[in-house]
Amino acid sequence: MEKNTIVTLNQFIADQQNQFPFVKGSLSRIFRDIQLAAKMINRDVRKAGLIDILGNFGETNIQGEEQKKLDVISNDVFKRLMDMSGDCICVVSEEDDDIHWCPNGADAKYILAIDPLDGSSNIDVNASIGSIFSIYKRLSPDKPVDNEDIMQAGVNQVAAGYVIYGTATMFVYTTGSGVNGFTLDDSIMEFCLSHPEIKTPQNGSIFSVNEGNLNEFHPGVIEYVNWCKGNNKEEKRPYSARYIGSLIADFHRNLLKGGIYLYPATAKAPNGKLRLLYECNPMAFLVEQAGGKATTGSQRIMEIQPENLHQRTPLIIGSTEMVNQVERLLSNVAEQ
Ligand code: AHG
Ligand code: MN
Ligand code: MN
Repeated sequence: MEKNTIVTLNQFIADQQNQFPFVKGSLSRIFRDIQLAAKMINRDVRKAGLIDILGNFGETNIQGEEQKKLDVISNDVFKRLMDMSGDCICVVSEEDDDIHWCPNGADAKYILAIDPLDGSSNIDVNASIGSIFSIYKRLSPDKPVDNEDIMQAGVNQVAAGYVIYGTATMFVYTTGSGVNGFTLDDSIMEFCLSHPEIKTPQNGSIFSVNEGNLNEFHPGVIEYVNWCKGNNKEEKRPYSARYIGSLIADFHRNLLKGGIYLYPATAKAPNGKLRLLYECNPMAFLVEQAGGKATTGSQRIMEIQPENLHQRTPLIIGSTEMVNQVERLLSNVAEQ
């Protein structure tokens, strides 16, 4: 990108349409709506402390987690926009028990999966949070959409991305031909290309994991965390621990700088905590497109066949060499 050239997200998508015809039509309109949702949520996040939308909504979601007011607001924004456009047949969301069918979308081609607000425990303390999305195409226009269309493996994603409401607000996405990042210029309220063709380093020196759970991890993961903390000047160890508890924020830092994020299985949560459809698959698509890797420890995340909407999976994601090292330790321990 030439210095001083300004490319808005809309312009970028318009240019992509010539290169990748499938981005045309309703998919590009879905992007327009996600972008609008991002700006609306961004507005609410930035003012939350002033307009009484911090704190709990007073209900729990399907997964028994407390909903924050902003979780509910963000979920409504996405669904409202999709309902209006009719470009999605349905929306599946971390915050909803069931599939939300879009009233104008009976003939639409796409299915949207969202974590409308990720890192919601950070809302009340003004730390980075975000929205995650993933888009699938219905399998056939000739049959009504059913579970098979909605629960496709991550390899079938047509697009995925996230919006991070951090120091700046950024929109990072892929349609399967690399990853690009756009920063919101809030003086003109446009996302402008700031991080073209993001490639993640093959190796890094940051590890992100909730070490409070260490004693509950698989012995191979415990060994890896201890290995990260060991001394080896050549390998730049000990690595730095960085964990804020928003997947998006931890992932985004590691994507740009090189690093690894782990949310492994624990004794209490044998499938880990993070959700396959709303969190793990979109991040896995992004990281692979940036040259990194995402695994459960024994299986590529994007090859998991989902069995239910809110399914969880262990997630080990980031720089390829670091993820490989965890896999090696896990398989060594399994063989012993
Ligand atoms: P959400 O706010 O969408 O429920 O997601 C929270 C997730 C994820 O963002 C984060 O990495 C993880 O929970 C943190 O969990 P711990 O507090 O158990 O470390
Ligand atoms: Mn989340
Ligand atoms: Mn969430």
